[in-house]
Amino acid sequence: MTDAACEPLLETTSIAKYFPLPVSARDWLGRTPARSIHAVDQVSLTVRSGETLALIGESGSGKTTFGWLVARLHEPTQGTIRFRGQDVTHLSGSALRAWRRNVQIVFQDPVGSLDPRLRVWQIVSEPIRAQLPLRRAAVRERVAELLPQVGLPSDCLDQYPHEFSGGGRQRLSLARALSINPSLVVLDEPTSALDVAVQAQVLNRLVGLQRERGLSYLLITHNVATVRYAADRVAVLYVGQLIEIGPVRAVLTQPVHPYTKALLAAVPVPDPKRRRARYRISGEVPTLINPKPGCRFAPRCPFVIERCRVEDPLLRPVAEFPDRLVACHRAEEVGSIPPETLIGSGPAPPDRPPSN
Ligand SMILES: Nc1ncnc2c1ncn2[C@@H]1O[C@H](COP(=O)(O)OP(=O)(O)O)[C@@H](O)[C@H]1O
Ligand code: SF4
Ligand SMILES: [Mg+2]
Repeated sequence: MTDAACEPLLETTSIAKYFPLPVSARDWLGRTPARSIHAVDQVSLTVRSGETLALIGESGSGKTTFGWLVARLHEPTQGTIRFRGQDVTHLSGSALRAWRRNVQIVFQDPVGSLDPRLRVWQIVSEPIRAQLPLRRAAVRERVAELLPQVGLPSDCLDQYPHEFSGGGRQRLSLARALSINPSLVVLDEPTSALDVAVQAQVLNRLVGLQRERGLSYLLITHNVATVRYAADRVAVLYVGQLIEIGPVRAVLTQPVHPYTKALLAAVPVPDPKRRRARYRISGEVPTLINPKPGCRFAPRCPFVIERCRVEDPLLRPVAEFPDRLVACHRAEEVGSIPPETLIGSGPAPPDRPPSN
């Protein structure tokens, strides 16, 4: 994190994205109830200037949808987005196009997001050409200067994406995002398609670029080692809702929300002497389609009480856990319980860490 950190750069307030489902058959009363997938539901968080905020959660928890909302690639169903204090939720047309230079995204799929018919200089300069009336030679010059910064040679301007390895394509995506000098970059699983050695190189370059340029990152990842290495704070999503956010070290060593405890306990620990007991969670992940009121983790939570099934827990500070917000009615009671003591609270541990 840079010295300028802590100022809010981007803030979402109760942001939501519901994808409507096709109208289903009429029920026996002749009604056709509206149904939608609540992919992101009332998420309020802040990305601070110069920080890396990691966003973690299981596959389907809404991470990519949230990233697209932040980059204004999805229209929010509800809520507001502020950037440097300005409400940008409903920007459109030329105002939205001009604003886009502030927030860029590196997409989850580095192959699908690069047009195979375009050459490197055309791909990398897409955001520049959308914003600035530069001549072709000036554009090529800017791209040639940028490529070495992401670890690519400046003489590959006329190559095509298929001529690059997975890591090379990811660097191209990164160069495209950086070409317009954004303040915030949404990195959607930036290293998940790469092999381990290349992952480390790309991650190092991301951290270096952040220092050099004072960037902020929203880092979407399922890899806890990546979170530990690269992030300042971490936010945990569960079926579209933010359930815990706080400083990385503190959350990873003392998760408060029962779901965060389960998620972290499911991550394999490489050192056999430090083998961590596995906190078991059972039960089905609830549906995102018109979810019921109450805590969404209630069907799987070993601490559930009646209140949890009827009243949505609000995200709130928890005494003894500075700079932490948690959405759990029993956060104070369960916060200090180590996951190891919870073994046997369900029939099956989650077998894998959260994935894309
Ligand atoms: N364009 C869309 N239309 C309908 N449903 C979508 C769309 N995009 C995502 N979803 C649904 O929203 C939920 C969250 O998806 P996503 O944001 O991709 O989660 P994650 O990135 O955490 O895996 C999933 O149920 C997914 O099927
Ligand atoms: S609110 Fe209740 S069900 Fe939800 S995580 Fe907390 S204790 Fe468990
Ligand atoms: Mg995703």
